[in-house]
Amino acid sequence: MPWNPDHYLAFGDLRLRPAVDLLARVPVEDATTVADLGCGPGNVTRILQARWPRAAVTGVDNSAEMLARAAAAVVPGVAWQQADVATWAPEAPVDVLFSNAALHWLDHHETLFPRLAGFVRPGGALAVQMPDNFAAPSHRCACQAAREGPWRAVLEPLLRSAPVRGAGNYHDLLVARARSLDIWETEYLQVLEGDNPVADWTRGSLLVPLLAALEEPWRSAFEADYRRRVAAAYPRHADGRTLFPFRRLFIVAVMG
Ligand SMILES: C[S@@+](CC[C@H](N)C(=O)[O-])C[C@H]1O[C@@H](n2cnc3c(N)ncnc32)[C@H](O)[C@@H]1O
Repeated sequence: MPWNPDHYLAFGDLRLRPAVDLLARVPVEDATTVADLGCGPGNVTRILQARWPRAAVTGVDNSAEMLARAAAAVVPGVAWQQADVATWAPEAPVDVLFSNAALHWLDHHETLFPRLAGFVRPGGALAVQMPDNFAAPSHRCACQAAREGPWRAVLEPLLRSAPVRGAGNYHDLLVARARSLDIWETEYLQVLEGDNPVADWTRGSLLVPLLAALEEPWRSAFEADYRRRVAAAYPRHADGRTLFPFRRLFIVAVMG
């Protein structure tokens, strides 16, 4: 998928906040090996390196565009690897496997999560944050726009209604391997500026595979249709700003 780091980083601060909140709950003092799965443009990877400065940190992503942006800043101790997380495996067990806003792009969590947990050393941690807002208007508008236009046959197979499961499900998937489990959900009330900022936000994430699947003129027509729907679903408030509530699921599993 042709990710665009500029679109993604347009809301860099708000996208970083959950990674920082997740990192604050990882109870690993010393780490020698850390991997950041779905590292994107590498801004979270750099924070991991600062938290564990003696560790060898690897940022893993399957997007050449995102990795090019990540590698543009040389950070001692950080290596970048292009790989699909679905099949990636570390050379040896790691101390921390971290993943912010990436694993919801992968299917089959029932096998993915136990597999990833198996790559972590005893006493190390698997730490994951995923959006859990697939029923929000921002997503529903994308499904409606995809299904109600001439592009339906192209886009409908790409719609992923609920890639993230309930919190209890992740407890069940990890409990047998974990010494401790810390799972929680947070809804951030994001306050956005601009003309149609929710559509600008999803252009850097949710819409990436849908826009990539379309040629012109459908690509622009689909995006315009989506933008109209989203503007109506998220009207501006009296202060001129737009509120975009965003629910996220957090998992920290310390391995036994
Ligand atoms: C929303 S971005 C998150 C980037 C970064 N973790 C952050 O928090 O800023 C999602 C990233 O996951 C990557 N990704 C999605 N599916 C992937 C897969 N199967 N294997 C590796 N990376 C993947 C995308 O290329 C993208 O860079």
